[in-house]
Amino acid sequence: MQINQLTCSIGAELTGVSLADVARDDSLYAEIKALLLKHRVLFFRDQDITREDHVAFARRFGDLEDHPVNNTVPGYPGLIEIYKSEKRDHFENTYHSDASWRPSPPKGAVLRCISCPDVGGDTIWVNMVEAYKHLPEEIKQKISHLRAKHGIEHSFGAIMSTEEREELVRKHPLVDHPVVRTHPETGEKILYVTPFSTHFINYHTPENVRFGQDKTPGASLLLNYLLSQAAIPEYQVRFRWRPNSVAIWDNAATQHYAVSDYWPAPRRMERATIMGDRPF
Ligand code: SIN
Repeated sequence: MQINQLTCSIGAELTGVSLADVARDDSLYAEIKALLLKHRVLFFRDQDITREDHVAFARRFGDLEDHPVNNTVPGYPGLIEIYKSEKRDHFENTYHSDASWRPSPPKGAVLRCISCPDVGGDTIWVNMVEAYKHLPEEIKQKISHLRAKHGIEHSFGAIMSTEEREELVRKHPLVDHPVVRTHPETGEKILYVTPFSTHFINYHTPENVRFGQDKTPGASLLLNYLLSQAAIPEYQVRFRWRPNSVAIWDNAATQHYAVSDYWPAPRRMERATIMGDRPF
């Protein structure tokens, strides 16, 4: 297996490996897992594998989960379709960590390209450990004990009817997570606000709020500043898809953005999402 590091901060492409072999090969799995923790996202080309192989590879890392809005591939629990057609139903063209609206968001995901436009439809990943590391010291202090609410309603619920949206929220109520989480395996600190983050829940303290103006506008300016860090190119890698390209990412340590520049061409991806633990 050859390892080609793609940027100084995130991403490596691995060649000379078939993901179909990982389900049966413990040492290959251990090597890929260590590389994932180091590079945050790994890319593989020409993986002419079956859906069973895709699911089996992802399951080496943990149990899989479905999604309340995206369709599951019929017959393959844990494997969802991400299909964009001329309807232009884009959701993923924002920097995000998958499903941070869950009490225990996924620890990772394996995305395989089934078909894609000749040009466009790239995905960008961001190293949120680097994003935290480079924050100004006074911001690090200010956010060290903050918690933020995360919800599904204002993204996936936005085009639903009121009844459908209320049902979505009943099933997936707001959760709160630390703004700075600790990676469960490496112990690294990670900046963990996403577009699912709605507001801080413990900002209104005498240190932060002297006047009303400090409260809502002050907190939302800080939240927006933190969200903007994911857009810094120095923390990013950008990947051009081809059919049978595969990416696996660490969903705790990264965010990603699916660039939606290819409409009306279709793009079809399948994602196996690996369950994670409660952030701390
Ligand atoms: C996702 O947000 O998990 C999908 C990314 C993509 O379609 O490139």
